[in-house]
Amino acid sequence: MLTIQRDIDLMPFHTFHMPVKAEVFCQVDSIQSLQELRLNSEIAGKPWLVLGGGSNVLFTQNVLQPIIKVSIPGISILKSDSDWATVRVGAGVNWHELVLWSLDEGMSGLENLSLIPGQCGAAPMQNIGAYGVELKQVFDCLEAIEIATGVVHTFHRNECNFDYRTSIFKTELKNKFIITSITLKLRRSGLNLNLDYGDIRSVLSQRGITKPTPRDVSNAVIYIRQSKLPDPDKIGNAGSFFKNPEIHMDEFSALKTRFPELPGYPVTNEKVKVPAGWLIDKLGLKGYRNGDAGVHDRQALVLVNHGLATGNEILSISRHIQDRVHATYNISLEPEVNIL
Ligand code: FAD
Ligand code: EPU
Repeated sequence: MLTIQRDIDLMPFHTFHMPVKAEVFCQVDSIQSLQELRLNSEIAGKPWLVLGGGSNVLFTQNVLQPIIKVSIPGISILKSDSDWATVRVGAGVNWHELVLWSLDEGMSGLENLSLIPGQCGAAPMQNIGAYGVELKQVFDCLEAIEIATGVVHTFHRNECNFDYRTSIFKTELKNKFIITSITLKLRRSGLNLNLDYGDIRSVLSQRGITKPTPRDVSNAVIYIRQSKLPDPDKIGNAGSFFKNPEIHMDEFSALKTRFPELPGYPVTNEKVKVPAGWLIDKLGLKGYRNGDAGVHDRQALVLVNHGLATGNEILSISRHIQDRVHATYNISLEPEVNIL
């Protein structure tokens, strides 16, 4: 059943929690409703704005184009043997609920991606990643409807151009497809756990765990995340506001002479990824605040809405940070959040 709503306050539908208005808002829970929507005279032919859980967007103005909130449910096991399970998930399923479901089913592969907010349909958009794992490592394929034609396409992993915080859906095919389901290939054994990133090993050892299960890793990741990242239900934010920049090895070496403690993670022989949070923190901007817009006091890469900040106030803080970072390190920070 299609219900088109008008003049809706989007505050509950995104994690920065600013009051912005949507002129037309429609929640869809099946491919059939999406097809119906394509033929609706009020909506057909207009550019759509697709929304999942709203945890990676910053609204800077009221939205005039129709918002299509994808709520397609369902998790099903397509194939399973003693080693692997192939699982198809509706785009509207909450990501962390999928992680918990997979652990209950004795599957592994998603434990490092615990507690990432948002829905499964958005996970391929920026190839979500955390604690040493990216979606692409467990991804098999996805189904998506082409908005212009209504044709349903299947995209396999090698067709999605996954890379650090990006995919073909954030670049060449931006705004052209609605992802309706994703299919993942998960292990049936708890082998091949990724324990090397950040504090995972130290949290496990503090807990006296020497042979961790996927559930132990998930619990450790949840604990680490809760200790640094603000809970969007309590304080508006969209996670990391910027991507971690990749710079040339020579630039990194030059910066190291000025800032010997600068962390860096080689990505190729020529490129090094540097943590933007460190760069911002070093400038003394952690906890910085201008009115209700600010920088989180435990993670400088996260911008926060303390209450009544507008999208433009958050944007203005982000530009201030970009300017300061560029002036000091000659590095351009690129937003990770989708600014609308
Ligand atoms: P939305 O914010 O609703 O949408 C994001 C983009 O995807 C928009 O461009 C939207 O148009 C598009 N989109 C959404 N659904 C669909 C669909 N079905 N079809 C086509 N396009 C669609 N991200 C990480 O990668 N790693 C992290 O560790 C991480 N930690 C976070 C922590 C916090 C506290 C928060 C608030 C965010 C964090 N994020 C992280 C960012 C965010 O959770 C992810 O980007 C998530 O995948 C966004 O999902 P969503 O459903 O909320 O997408
Ligand atoms: N750091 C500081 N000060 C800060 C923040 C970070 O010095 O205020 C330093 C840390 O000490 C550490 C390094 O920067 O040495 C990296 O910090 P952290 O491990 O917290 O990770 P991050 O690089 O800031 C990235 C992702 C997160 C993801 C974590 C864990 C990006 C843009 N962000 O953050 O993803 O959860 O790693 O894997 O890649 C998101 O995308 O929204 C997100 C939260």
